[in-house]
This record gives sequence, structure tokens and C-alpha cells, in this order.
Amino acid sequence: MIYHAGNIVINIAPDMAAFNKDGARSIMDQINKKPDSVVGFATGGTPVGVYKELAELNKSGRVDFRSVTSFNLDEYYPIKRDNPQSYYRFMAENLFDHVNIQPHKVNIPNGEAADVEEECASYERKIKAAGYLDFQVLGIGSNGHIGFNEPGGKFQGATHLVTLKESTVKDNARFFGDPSDVPRNAITMGIKTIMSAKKILLLATGSVKAKVIKEALFGDITPEVPASVLQLHTNLIALLDTEAAAEIMPILEGLS
Ligand code: PGA
Repeated sequence: MIYHAGNIVINIAPDMAAFNKDGARSIMDQINKKPDSVVGFATGGTPVGVYKELAELNKSGRVDFRSVTSFNLDEYYPIKRDNPQSYYRFMAENLFDHVNIQPHKVNIPNGEAADVEEECASYERKIKAAGYLDFQVLGIGSNGHIGFNEPGGKFQGATHLVTLKESTVKDNARFFGDPSDVPRNAITMGIKTIMSAKKILLLATGSVKAKVIKEALFGDITPEVPASVLQLHTNLIALLDTEAAAEIMPILEGLS
């Protein structure tokens, strides 16, 4: 079911199969429209099924990644590339090893960089040199973060180093054997970098995201809920499952 709330298109998928299909199709449509698209990818549990579907579409010849340039949103810092929880590994396992993207066109912040400030600056320069993002896939943290832009006093513009909030460390501890193994820092695209994308696909599933989706899409625009800045974007699709949409349903029903 599709709703229009101001600038925002909200697509509520009836089940996970539809969610994954719709998400993959949005990315496919972008690449088919512009084969040399610059695409920003997200990690986390939410996009895994979408990426699986996208790999199937690539395998069946319906989308070609040969000319695509990718930039990932973020990476833990410090982390070794071969750490099973690095976002480098996540992307290889969940998408890049299964599609015909060219390895030299894949960009992920380097969690092993000796000079992290320089790594952030050079990542931002690469995004600029690529002409910024045509399309950005985004997840949302239960605390409202996008990328690893955590709630705080102000919106941070460019790619930068962050200290993760305890809530994020807790959320992500499920992926690590021991919560104390979760890195405390990360490199993330900034809010301005993300907002530079010509089109944004925000993905959220599960009741754990219901409250933050309402705050992000219909609450005050505030750095305390970094995703709320997305209300200012002119080409945003929020793809939700019914659980993540639960708290906005009364608003959406009032709109139609
Ligand atoms: P999740 O993470 O998909 O694992 O819920 C989303 C995020 O933290 O951005």
C-alpha cells in the first residue's frame, strides 16, 4: 500500500517477501535508468533480504552492476577488514560477491586506516569526485541514527569519526560474540553527504522501529532524531513492513 505524506512516499509491504522485492526493485530501477549510478549501500539486518533479491535479479540478467560505483555509509573503527563483523565483510557476503560490480568501483570506509581524519576526508573527496550519490539505501537505528550519525547536539555534515551511543552498541551486540567486542567508534558519511543523494530509500522493519519511524517521518526535525532530517529531502521513499508502520497508520489513514 502506497501513501503520500508531503514529499515522502511511504510503501507498506504486507510481508517480508514483498518488502524484499520492492526494495530490490527500487535499486534495480535506479541502475537500469542510469547504469553508471553512484549508489550508497547500508548494512544491518534490515537490507539482507533486499540484497539477496537484488543478487537474484542480477543473476537473471535484469540488472547489471558493471558500471555502478558504490559507497557504503559507514564502517566500524578500528576494525580489521577480515573481522566477520566488519561492514567490508558484510557487503561481500550479502551483496558484492554475488553481483557483477567491479571491485575497483566499490568504496567502503577503511576501518584499518592509520590516520582516521585523513580517511574521512579522503572518503568525502571520493564521493564528491564521483558526483555525489544518485541513490542511497538507508536503515534506521532504534535511536534514530542514519549511517552512524548518532543523536546529538547538531547535524554533522561530511564523513566523520563518531563515538557510538550505548544504545547502538547494545543493538549491534547481537552480531558480535561478546558485547565488549563491539567497536566503540565508527566512520560514517555525514548528514549532508547522505542528503546529497538524489533519491533515498529508507528501510525499516519490526515493531522495534515503530516509534522511531513516527518520530523520524512525522516528529520535529531535530539532531536528537537524526533521521528526522529526511523530512527535508525531496525524493524519499520509506519502505516499511506493517510492524514498523504500526504507529504511523492512524496518521496515514487520516491523510487518505
Ligand atoms: P538494522 O540496523 O537494520 O540491523 O536494524 C539499522 C541501522 O542501525 O541503521
